[in-house]
Amino acid sequence: MAIISSKKQPPDPDESPDSEAKQSPKESLRQAGQPIADKSLNPEASPDEEGKQEERLRPQRLADYIGQKDLKDVLDIAIKAAQGRKESLDHLLLYGPPGLGKTTMSLILATEMGVGCKITTAPALERPRDIVGLLINLKPGDVLFIDEIHRLPKVTEEILYPAMEDFRIDITIGKGQSAQTRSLSLPPFTLVGATTRVGALTSPLRDRFGLVQRLRFYELDELTEIVVRTAQILHTPIDQEGAIEIARRARGTPRIANRLLKRVRDYTEVKALGLITGTIASEALHLFNVDPCGLDWTDRRLLQVLIERFDGRPVGLDTMAAITGEDAQTIEEVYEPYLLQIGYLQRTPRGRIATAAARAHLGLTTPLSDNQLPLLF
Ligand SMILES: Nc1ncnc2c1ncn2[C@@H]1O[C@H](COP(=O)(O)OP(=O)(O)OP(=O)(O)O)[C@@H](O)[C@H]1O
Ligand SMILES: [Mg+2]
Repeated sequence: MAIISSKKQPPDPDESPDSEAKQSPKESLRQAGQPIADKSLNPEASPDEEGKQEERLRPQRLADYIGQKDLKDVLDIAIKAAQGRKESLDHLLLYGPPGLGKTTMSLILATEMGVGCKITTAPALERPRDIVGLLINLKPGDVLFIDEIHRLPKVTEEILYPAMEDFRIDITIGKGQSAQTRSLSLPPFTLVGATTRVGALTSPLRDRFGLVQRLRFYELDELTEIVVRTAQILHTPIDQEGAIEIARRARGTPRIANRLLKRVRDYTEVKALGLITGTIASEALHLFNVDPCGLDWTDRRLLQVLIERFDGRPVGLDTMAAITGEDAQTIEEVYEPYLLQIGYLQRTPRGRIATAAARAHLGLTTPLSDNQLPLLF
């Protein structure tokens, strides 16, 4: 499978407010002069992980992709049906929080279909010729993967409409009165779009995807399996309890599970402890300030503000951002999804509320009864 990757470009300075919102959560913490929480818990990819490091750990086939059963079932059928008809796969939109396996899944799709995969990211498709160049070089059946597809410039998006629908692009040659529009036909291809913000896609673009699939957070047993698999690839001895201890703190996210494993591996190697056991993993992660639920400084601060300053009253996103010095979009995309998932936060029409489970976790109330315990793990 040929993989051609087009480089990520720096954010456009004119693009505000979105460009500011696109800074990493760590960057906004730094600017606010707040303590920097453990980097391992940020689900976004770090520069080294975008390269070879992460590639080594990616599952290559559908059968090796752990969890996301519903998604795998849907794609398995779609692949078999397309192969049976000798057609290209329907265009696919994958959405969900960072680090859950969107890029991995699109590479797997190309491998399973036995076709090439071209990878690019929406901000790199600034000029019409960027997308036209990619489209006209596609081979029949190829997968074109566009990351952060909610950030596509309007002109690029409009070129994609006929390309997706009729495998054709309309290009204008010449200028002024002598300008002519030519239609160029393309080979059938599959567009795979990935986004963390499906709501930010325009509806004409969203409607052109035959399959729209959400990735969900992983369960404890799935993450444990991912930790064991990664440990095997990295030749790191680990027992089941060690893997569970790491998985428990991985915020339902494979990328974080892999990162935490690497931190624990460092600790175990430096201390010459050999096998990673539950106790060793717990000691190491405690040292790296990783909370038993995988919460970092910002998560705890958000919950604390809701509980202590507002005493359980609903709080708007912008107020939370102002008080914590955190960017509103980062709160919404990076922190909130996991806090909502584990039942520490509730979204109501009037604002956000920290739950009794969050109070208990922060030690701000009396112990909870069983039915108030966190939903996950
Ligand atoms: N289902 C899975 N089984 C095993 N490992 C996985 C799985 N999903 C993801 N991973 C691991 O997690 C890492 C991150 O996955 P990936 O890059 O596909 O996430 P992503 O959803 O594209 O994130 P982003 O939104 O930041 O682009 C990969 O290197 C891969 O090793
Ligand atoms: Mg990705």
